[in-house]
Amino acid sequence: MLNNFPLWPQQASTLAGHVDALYIFLLIVTGMMALLVFTLIIYFAARYRYRPGVRAEQIEGSNALEITWSAIPFLIFMVIFAWGALVFFKERTPPTDAAEVYVVAKQWMWKVEHAEGQREINELHVPVGRDVKLIMTSQDVIHSFYIPAFRIKQDVLPGRYTVEWFHATKPGVYHLFCAEYCGTQHSGMVGSIIVQEPAQYEAWMNGNSNGPLSGSGEKIFAELGCATCHRSDIQGRGPNLVGVFGKPVQLDDGRMLTADENYLRESILDPGSKRLKGFQPIMPTFQGLVSEEQLNALVAYIKSISLSNPMGGAKTSASGAVSGESSDNEGKTHTLPNGTKVQ
Ligand code: CUA
Repeated sequence: MLNNFPLWPQQASTLAGHVDALYIFLLIVTGMMALLVFTLIIYFAARYRYRPGVRAEQIEGSNALEITWSAIPFLIFMVIFAWGALVFFKERTPPTDAAEVYVVAKQWMWKVEHAEGQREINELHVPVGRDVKLIMTSQDVIHSFYIPAFRIKQDVLPGRYTVEWFHATKPGVYHLFCAEYCGTQHSGMVGSIIVQEPAQYEAWMNGNSNGPLSGSGEKIFAELGCATCHRSDIQGRGPNLVGVFGKPVQLDDGRMLTADENYLRESILDPGSKRLKGFQPIMPTFQGLVSEEQLNALVAYIKSISLSNPMGGAKTSASGAVSGESSDNEGKTHTLPNGTKVQ
C-alpha cells in the first residue's frame, strides 16, 4: 500500500516493513495524543468559561487520575522502547553468511569493491533475495551511506570500519545518498543501488571480474613482505594468521578481544596498539603505505585464510544459495584451498 503513497520511499528490503510499522505506530500514538490534548483544551475552555455570578470551584487533585495519566504513557513509552530495540538489533546485526562488499567513501564519491573482485563507482549491484553486508570506511571525512528504500543509514568514518547490511526484496534501481554533510559537493555524492534477479546478477558478476579481492590481498601480502614473519605453515616471528579471523585473541596486556575487521585493520596501521600475547613489538606500521583499497584487500585475504570458503565470505551463486560455512564453527577442521587443514 505504501508503495503508492508518495510521502514514503519504496519498501525494498526486509527491514523496510519493520521500520515503517514502528514509524506508523509513532505517528498514530502522537496523532492521538495531539487530538486528545486539543479536544480537552476546547472542551475545558467551553465547560469552565466565565459566567457572571458563578464562582470558580477549587479542585484539590486526584491520586487516581494522576496515577492513570502517568502509568498509561509509561506503558506506551516502554512499548516504543522495546519495539525500537528489536528493530535496532535486527538492523545492527548482519547475518554471518552475508555476501561482503567493501565500500570506501571519499569527497565526493563511493568506491565499491565486491569480495569477488568487481569494482564500481557510485553504483552497487546486488542480487535480490540475498543478505549483503557492507564493510565501509572513509578516505577523508565522515560520510553516511543511506539507502532510503532499504531504510538503512550508517556513518562511514575515516580510520575504522563500520558495517551495515540489507536483504533486498525487489529488483529495481534505488537511490544511494550521502547523509552526512561532507563538503561543497556533499549533495552530489549520490549513486544507485541496482538490485537484479540472481541470473542477471550472475551475468553482471561474470562480466566484471578482476579476480577475488582476497587474491589481490594475497598479492599485496606477498609484495609488502608480510609473509616473511606471518608464516602460514608454522608460527613465525609474527602470529600465523591462518584461522585467526573471527576468533578470540589474547593481547599482550591480558585483554581478550575478537579478531574482527577493525582489529585486523588497526593491527596493520598501528601494530603496537593491540599486540598479541607472546610476540615482540617488531612489526613496522603500514600507515600511509597502503591505500584504503589495499587495506580492504588485505583484510579480505586474512579472512579468506580463516574461512573454509576461498572467497573470504559467503559466495553468491546463480540460485542465490549460500555455499561455505560461517566462521563461528568452532573446533571444526577446515581445508584451505592450498590443502592446509586449520582448526
Ligand atoms: Cu559524503 Cu556527504
